[in-house]
Amino acid sequence: MWIAVSATVVALVAIASFSPLDKFFPNFALPHFFSHGVVADLLVTNGTIYTGNDTLPFADSMAIRNGRILRIGNYSSMQDLAGFAIKTLNLEGKVVVPGFIDSHVHLIFGGLQMAQVQLRGVDRREHFVNKVKEALSNMRHGSWLLGGGWNNDLWGGEMPMASWIDDISPYNPIWLTRMDGHMGLANSMALTIAGISNSTEDPGGGAVMRNGNGEPTGLLIDSAMKLVLSCIPEVSIEERREALLRASNHALMRGVTTVVDFGRYFPGASTELSWEDLSDVYRWADSSGNMKIRVCLFFPMETWARLYELINEAGRKLSQWIYLGGMKSFADGSLGSSSALLYEPYVDEVQNYGLQVADMDGLYNMTVSSDKSGLQIAVHAIGDRANDLILDMFKLVASKNGIRDRRFRIEHAQHLAPGTVARFGEQEVIASVQPDHLLYDADSAIKKLGMERAQRGSYLLKSLLSGNVQLAFGSDWPVVDINPLGSIRTAMKRVPTGWEKAWISSECISLNDALNAYTISAARACFLDEDVGSLSVGILQQA
Ligand SMILES: *[C@@H]1O[C@H](CO)[C@@H](O)[C@H](O)[C@H]1NC(C)=O
Ligand SMILES: *[C@@H]1O[C@H](CO)[C@@H](O)[C@H](O)[C@H]1NC(C)=O
Ligand SMILES: *[C@@H]1O[C@H](CO)[C@@H](O)[C@H](O)[C@H]1NC(C)=O
Ligand SMILES: *[C@@H]1O[C@H](CO)[C@@H](O)[C@H](O)[C@H]1NC(C)=O
Ligand SMILES: *[C@@H]1O[C@H](CO)[C@@H](O)[C@H](O)[C@H]1NC(C)=O
Repeated sequence: MWIAVSATVVALVAIASFSPLDKFFPNFALPHFFSHGVVADLLVTNGTIYTGNDTLPFADSMAIRNGRILRIGNYSSMQDLAGFAIKTLNLEGKVVVPGFIDSHVHLIFGGLQMAQVQLRGVDRREHFVNKVKEALSNMRHGSWLLGGGWNNDLWGGEMPMASWIDDISPYNPIWLTRMDGHMGLANSMALTIAGISNSTEDPGGGAVMRNGNGEPTGLLIDSAMKLVLSCIPEVSIEERREALLRASNHALMRGVTTVVDFGRYFPGASTELSWEDLSDVYRWADSSGNMKIRVCLFFPMETWARLYELINEAGRKLSQWIYLGGMKSFADGSLGSSSALLYEPYVDEVQNYGLQVADMDGLYNMTVSSDKSGLQIAVHAIGDRANDLILDMFKLVASKNGIRDRRFRIEHAQHLAPGTVARFGEQEVIASVQPDHLLYDADSAIKKLGMERAQRGSYLLKSLLSGNVQLAFGSDWPVVDINPLGSIRTAMKRVPTGWEKAWISSECISLNDALNAYTISAARACFLDEDVGSLSVGILQQA
């Protein structure tokens, strides 16, 4: 087994574990480095360094100066630096890889969730109810209990209902999101506050789940979540700042040094949240020395003109920590919530083809304008039909606006129709996939799509690579945990939770390909490959 040491970790170890500098600075050193004018701040030796750069895949040593890689190669090529480096670190054979890039997270949302009721992994109704009860025990009457991470598939599939928790929550409104963020459960008090009753109509792009009598059960899907979300008091600036710090530490502990943040934006949420987080949280953290990981921020598509102006004014790189990424939009919901948009109906709900969340005309218009302005576009698409709709749209936009290095992204790309993989390749669209979703999705996909459809089109990682598609891996945290090593293993082995063998073993990929999808390929997917993603000359040390 190998261990990952990001360049950041290497640097910290060096600072923490080095003896007085004079030991490394014998008197004769001074004239020497004055005459050469080059002295490394850090020289790392005796490692197994995986560079992620094809021109030199492995090296044993690396020199760093002014926060960037000065040289990388074998020790023999560093000998002129040896003895003059300010710090030296002997890795004793340990493996070094570029800092991992998580290509899809909701950073502040995840950090907030860390402080709420955590229903991740709950596998029985009684546990669900007990966790809520426990959390209520120290809450003031009237305040909202928030939480999430539940997955009904873990207790056999039955959807939770307000009636599960109404008895224990007479004084507090409750809102608990499903792990995928596309569905949430409100208790009756929350439904009342939101004014949801028998007569509430489904909003476009969403649904209020009802029982046989037409009464709302408490479950709200996609844009219907807005009905409740708009009633929940906004979290304070302090809470959001703490959430960023918690989330950054969490990511760093897993070897993630850069994240692509899709913000607190999903169908039904306000498009303002991402902008407020930029000004109240990220800029604050940056100016107060609290940024610990690099972030590349995506904003709601509707606000493209605002991002265009900001980039014109300030550039893409607001600081060494904050990059402005591009625009995000949605084509559909999720499989777990039966709202992924499909060509054929869900086998367990024969009338249901999923939800088309976007108005395609409006989305096309915004994509044309923002692409013309040079912004990068990422669209969420999970179902086979949603993926094709977005590829169709990308094709139209590209032919209208002409050739450029635009790196269109589809986020998730989970279920693809025959022929769609080839379209990703031809159109050079990046597939931003979260391998760990397949751990929980396999059973659900088989149940909802049927064995044949699930088997032929789900998480086609190997096929995408063979079709020359750029893969960018991530977690979608807090949907699943940030865990690049686990996720790399999932991409290699594809063994779902509770299974003993691989799901679609022909789609397993190699360690090398999985590692690249978390590093250099992920960096290209957000236009950061000149700063992070590989260990090459000129790349940032804390990358
Ligand atoms: C570094 O050393 C390894 C192992 O001795 C060798 O395979 C590799 O080609 C060397 N690389 C360079 C750039 O000299
Ligand atoms: C390099 O690391 C190995 C352990 O993997 C150790 O045995 C060896 O002595 C080290 N070499 C040097 C030059 O420090
Ligand atoms: C909703 O419908 C149910 C069943 O028809 C009925 O019992 C209930 O009183 C209705 N609730 C409201 C608020 O109208
Ligand atoms: C898209 O743009 C066209 C042409 O400018 C316009 O006619 C149409 O109304 C727009 N559609 C939407 C939904 O904004
Ligand atoms: C890979 O290394 C080569 C040679 O040092 C360099 O020219 C190239 O820019 C590097 N690639 C990246 C992505 O940094």
